[in-house]
Amino acid sequence: MKQTILVTGASSGIGLLIAKTLHENGHTVIGTSRNPKKSQSEVPFKLLPLDISDDNSIGSFGKLLFGEIDRLDVLINNAGYLVKGLAEETSIELGRQQLETNFWGTVKFTNELLPYFRKQRSGKIITIGSFLGLISLPNVSYYSASKHALEGYFKSLRFELNQFNIKVSVVEPMAFKTNIGDNSISAKGTIREYDSFRQKIVEFTKREFDNAPGPEPVVNTILKIVNEKTPKFSYPVGKGASLFLTLQRFAYNTFEGAILKKVNQV
Ligand SMILES: NC(=O)c1ccc[n+]([C@@H]2O[C@H](COP(=O)([O-])OP(=O)(O)OC[C@H]3O[C@@H](n4cnc5c(N)ncnc54)[C@H](OP(=O)(O)O)[C@@H]3O)[C@@H](O)[C@H]2O)c1
Repeated sequence: MKQTILVTGASSGIGLLIAKTLHENGHTVIGTSRNPKKSQSEVPFKLLPLDISDDNSIGSFGKLLFGEIDRLDVLINNAGYLVKGLAEETSIELGRQQLETNFWGTVKFTNELLPYFRKQRSGKIITIGSFLGLISLPNVSYYSASKHALEGYFKSLRFELNQFNIKVSVVEPMAFKTNIGDNSISAKGTIREYDSFRQKIVEFTKREFDNAPGPEPVVNTILKIVNEKTPKFSYPVGKGASLFLTLQRFAYNTFEGAILKKVNQV
């Protein structure tokens, strides 16, 4: 069945591929970007302006959206970015901004659209969390915190929206090649005692992204959820995802030791 689907952050990476693929599959797709004029001519779907870190932008979006479409079947919360840095060296301000966009921005935007979904008595809300919302790694403490927070929030929301036939899911991708590294913000290294570890973890993080595959598996997962009648809550995506989760759950020290060994081998 053809559906009307909104994809936030559809100018780049995962969001762009999701929006393009859904459009090619015959769905009506609306994407968003902070600067839609820059990308509109390069994409086959309509782009609307949205900055999820800006309350005014969120507040005026509903009107814009429903000027284009009559109903919304699926919201895909994809917009987000990455703050890198060792926890102690990352300023609280950088950390706050990370949560302001990835967590609060996503929550506020979802809230803005919930009245429409409730009125319809149907819909799907799919959020691109991260595998770093299920496990964590060094150098991404605030990013990981923002994605863990999304897990808890949407897990709770799913119970509450069940009565309105609104399905809530979170997709948790491992590393995939997009522009997330280029668009990331890195905290400055300021504490000498971390110099050696920082050097290794920066290289480790870079290699993880350099060697990452393209985001097609994430898009395939989204297609599955869009077509599913009763989607699950959690969809980890990536090579070895279930092994990592099992190790973390049943052999935490082994899991942690393997990560530290990998980082120290760099
Ligand atoms: N790539 C990975 O390995 C990976 C793994 C797990 C999860 N994720 C998640 O996947 C999502 C997409 O990331 P990506 O890897 O595709 O990165 P990307 O290539 O950098 O794309 C990020 C998208 O988010 C939009 N965006 C960023 N900040 C925004 C804001 N304040 N308001 C509205 N839109 C904003 C950007 O649009 P404009 O700049 O045009 O506004 C862009 O379209 C993110 O939530 C990320 O955390 C990525």
